[in-house]
Amino acid sequence: VSNQWTLPTANAEYVVSLLPDGTGLVLDHWGRPTGGVEPWSEPHRKDQYRLPADVAPLEYATAGHRHTAFSELLVDRGDSLTGAIWAADEPNILFSSTGEGASLVVPFTDETGDLRLTLRTATSTSHDIVRRSVVVENVSPDREVTLPRAFSAGWALPVGQRSRVHYLAGAWAQEFQPNHVDLGFGSFSIGSRQGVTSLAFSPVVAVESSLVGREHEAYGVALEWSGSWRLQVDSSIVGDRMRVSCGLDEDTTTITLLPGERFESPDSVGAWSPDGTEGVTQAWHRYQKGSLARSLDPAHRPIVYNSWMATEFDVRIEHQLELAEVASEVGVEVFVVDDGWFVGRTSDRAGLSDWTPDPAKFPEGLAPLAQSVIDRGMRFGLWVEPECVNPDSDLYREHPDWVYRAGDRPLVFVRNQLVLDLGRPEVVGWIENMLRRVLTSAPISYLKWDMNRPVSDGGRPGDPHGRQWSLQHTQGYYRILRMLRAEFPHVTLEACASGGGRIDNAVLALCDVVWTSDEVGPRDRLAIQHGYLSAYPAYAMSSWVSDDPGLRDRRGVSFEFRFVVSMAGVLGVGSDLLAWTAEQRSRASELVDLYRSIRHIVQTGTATRHGTPDDVTYSIEYANAGDGTACVLVFDRDRDRISDREQVRVRPTQLEPARRYRLRGTDVVVTGAAAASVGVVVPFALAVDTDVLVFDPLD
Ligand code: DGJ
Repeated sequence: VSNQWTLPTANAEYVVSLLPDGTGLVLDHWGRPTGGVEPWSEPHRKDQYRLPADVAPLEYATAGHRHTAFSELLVDRGDSLTGAIWAADEPNILFSSTGEGASLVVPFTDETGDLRLTLRTATSTSHDIVRRSVVVENVSPDREVTLPRAFSAGWALPVGQRSRVHYLAGAWAQEFQPNHVDLGFGSFSIGSRQGVTSLAFSPVVAVESSLVGREHEAYGVALEWSGSWRLQVDSSIVGDRMRVSCGLDEDTTTITLLPGERFESPDSVGAWSPDGTEGVTQAWHRYQKGSLARSLDPAHRPIVYNSWMATEFDVRIEHQLELAEVASEVGVEVFVVDDGWFVGRTSDRAGLSDWTPDPAKFPEGLAPLAQSVIDRGMRFGLWVEPECVNPDSDLYREHPDWVYRAGDRPLVFVRNQLVLDLGRPEVVGWIENMLRRVLTSAPISYLKWDMNRPVSDGGRPGDPHGRQWSLQHTQGYYRILRMLRAEFPHVTLEACASGGGRIDNAVLALCDVVWTSDEVGPRDRLAIQHGYLSAYPAYAMSSWVSDDPGLRDRRGVSFEFRFVVSMAGVLGVGSDLLAWTAEQRSRASELVDLYRSIRHIVQTGTATRHGTPDDVTYSIEYANAGDGTACVLVFDRDRDRISDREQVRVRPTQLEPARRYRLRGTDVVVTGAAAASVGVVVPFALAVDTDVLVFDPLD
């Protein structure tokens, strides 16, 4: 069929075509390969009252072309000709398809000739992800145009009506809580107006199909963006598609295009799976491992000790050295000094942005501490929060104009700090040079980048681009991360924003690990990690063992349980090590060794969650790592269980059915098929409430 393109993914195809009048692209099919489908056309109907563009499954809808239904793009030319009607520039459509994937670039020009829109779609056959974005260009020689909304993509999902939408909601210390809505007719919208991804919602949804015959399929849509964003799901009584639209949040972002300027949207990615939402989770993980991680080498996901919880702002070199001594005994690989190391920083009221070591705490700078840590066989790491400033700081005294401020309105403080305007090149340049200076002042190979407040009062009165501060801020943040990657490739980057406030695929593409939450109480943490793992990968999930009971579910657990919670991702330790007994230290060192023996499975294998942390027994299975070994982390609520009285079984589903496995440390031998159906009795060899089952293949 002419003007129809098929983009293959690993197990599916994404088929789009140009509307016969050339005004837009529509999605013809997304699912199992078909061998050919008819291009979408409006079904014959008696209802004469609908406008054709309102019902078309457009890949990208623009107001003006689409009249009454939601559009991803709004255009304001300063007169009454709002919106745009596009004509495809057919000779310049670019399509390429190889065995490894496909790419489609379709340019359009609007009816005035002033604007160009380019729709970009790309797939890879190494996973089931479709990548999309748009470019809007003002090619007029003299007219300014504003874009009150410029989303990245619309996804006309073939899921039927009234489908279930899964999403992650949260707050500080309770990030990534799984939720769902059975969307009737209407819209469902989540997002952030905070200038960061936010603790409140994650920019990702999974939508179950309710189409008869395709009930097992599900789709995921994510926005790869770390500033303000919005994602909306629309379900209409007409048609059998649900539309997911996402992009920069329009309440906080208006884009100005002066003559010759262009806007390039963040990418939106879509996932398809024949295995429901669990399959979508697997599709995300496969994509993140294969395409976002710079490497899965454990070197960039080391076992951390972070001294924040032991010291808060009371950072003293002798004390740090004592902690480092025990950390190395326990088997830690990188020792990280958190907040409180720099001049003036004795509380959260002062010092932020004065990134020189406090001479009272570090009379000879950081190098002696770093060297002592290295001499103990560990790497040395540091915390920074480069985007923020306390008014009580030298930087603020010198550059009060560098923070976001809404004209003469009162400044808005969160944790006594303000946000630097990363839309100003001089601020980005200053941060880059500051980081270069810090990273070359001592042998630092790990950086935890924190961001502890939402951005309010963004904007630059008088600047025509001031209303796109969130876009500019995020681009500045990415620019600095890219500089760090390029100039300091040996430095592992950990992203943090008061816990998990800035976790998304874009951060995963530029950082190695993410601090999932400030909640370290083991049961609460397990629930947060359970939600996180539905859309984000274990290899990046930084998790510290602590002695904290937790804020909500404070029921006691064993020391081992705390470790196994953290082994579910990238193990770290945050406890006050000097308060641990000799027995605890030596047990910790055994548990760190256990983690080291399974981390390649946890970080490179597939992670399948069985049940939820609310169940009496909850487990996470990691399988399909290169050497065929698999492991199951088991968490049990019923501490009073006496093993003879009641047997607990787990049923890992990802072992190879015909292969035989020995349960490490026992004589138990099972086939993958038996493990999945009959189950394997949990010996609780590690502790009364947790175990780590390792399955070694025998043949
Ligand atoms: C918030 C982070 O989430 C914590 O881990 C810690 O780094 C503090 N900030 C330090 O101020």
